[in-house]
Amino acid sequence: MTTPVSYEVQDGIAVITIANPPVNALSQAVRAGLQEAVARLAADDSAIAGVITGAGRIFVGGADITEFGKTPQPPYLPDVINAIEDSAKPIAAALNGAAIGGGCEVGLGAHLRIASETARVSLPEVTLGLMPGAGGTQRLPRLAGVEAALDIITTARQVSAAEALSLGIVDAVVPAADLLSAAKDKVRAVAEGSVSRPEASGLRPRPVADAAIFEATRKKVRARNRGEVSHLAAIDAVEDATRMDRTEGLAAERKRFLDLMQTPQRAALIHAFFAERKAAQVKEIAGLTPPPYASTGVIGGGTMGAGIATAALLAGLPVTLIEREEAFAEKARATIARNLDGAVARGKLSAEQRDEILSLKLKTATTYEALTEADIIIEAVFESLEVKTDVFRTLDAIAKPGATLATNTSYLDVNAIAAVTSRPEDVIGLHFFSPAHVMRLLEIVVAEKTAPAHVARAFDLARKLGKTGVYSGICDGFIGNRLMMQYRLASDYTMMDGASPYEIDAALTDFGFAMGPFQVSDLAGIDIGYASRQRRAPTRPPEERVVTFADGLYHRGWLGQKTGRGFYIYDDQSPKGRPDPEILALLEEARKEAGITPRSFTAEEIQRRYMAAMINEAARVLEEGIARRASDIDTVLLTGYGFPRWRGGPLHYADTVGIASVLDDINRLSADDAYFWRPAPLLVRLAAEGKTFADLDAGEAA
Ligand code: NAI
Repeated sequence: MTTPVSYEVQDGIAVITIANPPVNALSQAVRAGLQEAVARLAADDSAIAGVITGAGRIFVGGADITEFGKTPQPPYLPDVINAIEDSAKPIAAALNGAAIGGGCEVGLGAHLRIASETARVSLPEVTLGLMPGAGGTQRLPRLAGVEAALDIITTARQVSAAEALSLGIVDAVVPAADLLSAAKDKVRAVAEGSVSRPEASGLRPRPVADAAIFEATRKKVRARNRGEVSHLAAIDAVEDATRMDRTEGLAAERKRFLDLMQTPQRAALIHAFFAERKAAQVKEIAGLTPPPYASTGVIGGGTMGAGIATAALLAGLPVTLIEREEAFAEKARATIARNLDGAVARGKLSAEQRDEILSLKLKTATTYEALTEADIIIEAVFESLEVKTDVFRTLDAIAKPGATLATNTSYLDVNAIAAVTSRPEDVIGLHFFSPAHVMRLLEIVVAEKTAPAHVARAFDLARKLGKTGVYSGICDGFIGNRLMMQYRLASDYTMMDGASPYEIDAALTDFGFAMGPFQVSDLAGIDIGYASRQRRAPTRPPEERVVTFADGLYHRGWLGQKTGRGFYIYDDQSPKGRPDPEILALLEEARKEAGITPRSFTAEEIQRRYMAAMINEAARVLEEGIARRASDIDTVLLTGYGFPRWRGGPLHYADTVGIASVLDDINRLSADDAYFWRPAPLLVRLAAEGKTFADLDAGEAA
């Protein structure tokens, strides 16, 4: 059997190379191979020291996640790393590329770490509901200090080689071409005694830290990941390092790690991870190479257009932006410059790069002739079919053959927009989310005649922009907004029936949502909801219960955050909003007028209603083929709607609580409102068959 770990003595140094494509993951065979190599080194008279490195562009990409959820097989990584650390002959880690998770921990166990300039280290376990489980929480604080360790572990961020050097995580940074020889030289010097042997990181004294830093970090992660447990466990483990020696600290870490491995949160986060990856697999474009593209055009430089242009520019694509008038074009340029300033402030871009982008990569114009060379044109003008069809008629006349003609419409029918052109096969929906240079979701709305080449290009563009593209068919609101309309309605009903908007928001943020529905209304603008109700009014089914309470806010000019008042009051005293007693009084009146006797709701009832509405509509979207997989719907809600990632998305959540239980809720609620709470046939079928949404997706794959 070939082993993924090779052992070769070069000039008296054993070079131990991990070659387990694609990312050198630490599978059982790699762990065994490493353990064997370390034992061989001990017994090998021809080698005085060792170097561990990775084949290819990555050092080690982390654990083998296909082994998650299965019984761990020996040798266990912590033991392998202890063996490296306890090796009598010194061992250097030559970090040839990313050292992620367990890969970083292997490096931490070595006596020396030499990084190539392009290497990166990170401990991103918390993003999968886990924490470093092979010494990372014990060795990193001993090497880099508690504060840096807490930051790196709880943010899961990538640390560049240069920063790792300044934090003491690596001992030297060298050009990639010199890496192996530098590592060999340095470890040889230690073995020969010309340089004293560095103390193994696991055996260094316990790091000292003020208790306040742990509390401050806990507070931060609680605010960012409400209800999520792995971040807190990781902080506890780092705190252990300040009190425990290696043996005790590693045992405590391992226990915490294995406990997390059993949590539903870990399962949900892994589901989210795979769901996002799977989203890009679309059968029409399997094996299709997207036609190349070099330039983009954006039409409309308002909220969305400026954000989309920023996203493209940040990805290195030149952008030509068209506005109606010079003044609007200038305004758009200023917005983009501000967005780029933000990127500079976050360290994503240098000031020179920003200047170069603004002077060379961004062009603004007021005539469409500027777009004749663009390969992908994204329209983001007012949400009006008339305005948009005008734009597309013009585009049809001027765009070069084969250009992708995309609309960012939120609700309008992409088929109808395509129909005004002589090339409907080139028309597609690219539904970005606000702020478009920040939000990860991109719904790729495929119209009846859209050619696969453009779908392939759209998914490629999503990837290039660092976004998650999700296939959507055509319906009112596509996947995300269509679901939102329903759970929004459910929360309006709950409000009219007796819960305050504040109770509802609190219940849902407690559930883990980034914001409650009324906070979202205030952020998006009460006028947006108003316009959407107006738009739907003519086609609204007569059976649908209508709640017009927010129309009253609209007429008073209480448009939300932008006017300082909506469901909440926003001022210097409460920039994030505070409850408004007048809203409660108005609500009381509105209920009276509607003849409703208000009743009280528990937080759990509020959450169950909201989730039942969301899941029910999701089942319809799936059954109609608007979404191709349950996991795609999860991805939409996770990446675009603030759904708590550690719950895996609405349909993973439905599987967790049981589809039958969701259906029970819906059936019970239908006693009050049989129209709104009519169960989706798919939900009924799955419940009857005892199947899950995951089963459904697995069937699709089969
Ligand atoms: P906005 O009102 O901020 O911007 C629209 C811009 O288009 C204005 O600057 C206007 O001057 C320009 N414009 C209008 N007609 C034009 C024409 N014929 N040629 C060139 N420029 C023209 O609107 P916003 O919010 O940016 O929305 C744009 C589109 O994006 C709409 O279809 C909207 O439904 C959609 N959308 C909006 C989201 C949001 O959160 N605001 C989210 C996702 C999609």
